[in-house]
Amino acid sequence: MIHFHRVTLEYPRTRTKALFDVNLEIKKGEFVFLVGHSGAGKSSLLGLILKRLEPTQGAVYFAGENLKALRGDRVALHRRRIGMVFQDHRLLKDRTVEENLTFALQVLGVARPEWEARVTRVLRQVGLVHKKRAYPEELSVGEAQRVAIARALVGDPPVLLADEPTGNLDPANALAVLEIFKSVHARGATVLVATHARDLVEAYPQRVVVLKSGQLVRDDREGCYSL
Ligand SMILES: Nc1ncnc2c1ncn2[C@@H]1O[C@H](COP(=O)(O)OP(=O)(O)OP(=O)(O)O)[C@@H](O)[C@H]1O
Ligand SMILES: [Mg+2]
Repeated sequence: MIHFHRVTLEYPRTRTKALFDVNLEIKKGEFVFLVGHSGAGKSSLLGLILKRLEPTQGAVYFAGENLKALRGDRVALHRRRIGMVFQDHRLLKDRTVEENLTFALQVLGVARPEWEARVTRVLRQVGLVHKKRAYPEELSVGEAQRVAIARALVGDPPVLLADEPTGNLDPANALAVLEIFKSVHARGATVLVATHARDLVEAYPQRVVVLKSGQLVRDDREGCYSL
């Protein structure tokens, strides 16, 4: 589903090598934790999958397609196949929970008659149907993050990427977020979660990929976590 072939990424301005000769194959339906110290290259790796960044060397393939070949509208279509969750929720402040979700559906080009059922389904999935009419500032940090996950899921993407999604959450809320990712995984999606949180990895023993100073130093299917 996602394939990195000898990928090196250098940020041109600072000449920082954020990733160096990374090989990684993530199969459809896999759940992978991406771990590593701050600055190891986790966000950069996710940026390459979204085609927000281009490799300096090597290639990134998504569903068999070299992302390098995608241009214009096809980049937007590519991004629609991916649900993305950030550390901070990035919800639109002047729109309610429901409006944030319908806005995402509009951007995705989903027909209006489908909106209500989709919004209800994802809000049920994250346990927040009762907050439909709340504005982001009326939510707790954990609730806002669950809405951000609902937004990432509302288009039913085959791939979910999350960058440090529990960084601002207490342990109970972090585990609630993990439960949502588990259910997404159980429904067949491919899930890649970048995290520092050791307890998260321990709570769901899955494949763990370890980055260290831009290099992939460990790929452990037993779910062992060590940096
Ligand atoms: N836009 C940028 N321009 C130049 N260098 C960058 C840029 N973004 C990141 N870097 C550098 O690339 C390296 C990898 O950064 P990246 O953000 O991918 O790490 P990370 O593993 O996500 O870290 P964290 O856990 O702190 O989020 C770091 O050395 C960082 O300083
Ligand atoms: Mg990061």
